[in-house]
Amino acid sequence: MKILGIETSCDETAAAVVEDGHKVLSSAIASQIDIHKKTGGVVPEVAAREHILKIMPVIEQALSEANSTWDDIDAIAAVNEPGLISALLTGFVTAKTLAMAKGKKLIPINHIFAHIYGNWCERNPKDFKFPILILTVSGGHNELVFMRDHDNFEVVGESRDDAAGEAFDKVAKLLGLDYPGGPAIQKTAQEGNDLKFALPIAKVDGLDFSFSGLKTAVLYEVQRKYGKDFNPSELDKEFVNDMAASFQKTATQTLIEKLAKAVDKYDPKEIHLAGGVSANLLLREKAQKRLGTIKFPQDIKYCTDNAAMVASYGYFKTMV
Ligand code: KG4
Ligand code: ZN
Repeated sequence: MKILGIETSCDETAAAVVEDGHKVLSSAIASQIDIHKKTGGVVPEVAAREHILKIMPVIEQALSEANSTWDDIDAIAAVNEPGLISALLTGFVTAKTLAMAKGKKLIPINHIFAHIYGNWCERNPKDFKFPILILTVSGGHNELVFMRDHDNFEVVGESRDDAAGEAFDKVAKLLGLDYPGGPAIQKTAQEGNDLKFALPIAKVDGLDFSFSGLKTAVLYEVQRKYGKDFNPSELDKEFVNDMAASFQKTATQTLIEKLAKAVDKYDPKEIHLAGGVSANLLLREKAQKRLGTIKFPQDIKYCTDNAAMVASYGYFKTMV
């Protein structure tokens, strides 16, 4: 069974064809990163306009790279929540129209749960054992999810303010680093001393998270050294390297503490990392050191926004 996935919730216009929920036949993405670099973040109206321009070419690319025609497609899975509303609309209305015109079943998909299926892409579905505990973290969301079976999710912890990826992006911006912040901070941190700044791990009850205090602590350290009207592009390199390393250490530690607490409470058969931040190498390393075998997406392209995870979820949501 072949499903066409469509994703337009934020700044990637993506389409993919996935067979039986795990064989990725194609995964096409038109990234808007270069456009949003200029503003250091996503401007929703700009993102929506780009989606309109790119959605049909990206769908055609996904079909052609999968050597498929519309006759081969059994259903269309498209993200309809949550995300930037004008961006979501482009993908979902396109999917709805195509589903009607081509006579295909339409499967609405939740973006947060779709990220979880990034782990099924290019893995044998027989190699999974439920229940699974997932830390799914990106720029727009930050959750601990207990998954008893396919499409059976319980959100057991979430961020009360910023998502961890959002904190990476905002800290990168105030350190004068590139957008998106996660990869930029990871790279810069390699040169830095992670003991240089003692940043706070938020104390939040239960399994919830908070990242706004950490972001503000970084801002105060920068202001203490460079004054309130500092210019991010004028910070010295050593300061930026050390701050990136100290921030990355604290942010990943905050995530791991809660993941470990949730593992104790729920005693899952498997532990997964998912979402854009699961691309972070320090997070992966620390999680494995503390908790043993962990699954994270087979390829970094299935951590960040993509449509293969959407098609995979569409399959397991309706076919299993
Ligand atoms: O899943 P995603 O593509 O979009 C959302 O659903 O938000 O995640 C993007 C987020 C950004 O905040 C980005 O900075 C973060 O994932 N990210 C990383 C890394 N790669 C991407 N964060 C930390 N380390 C990385 N290597
Ligand atoms: Zn996402």
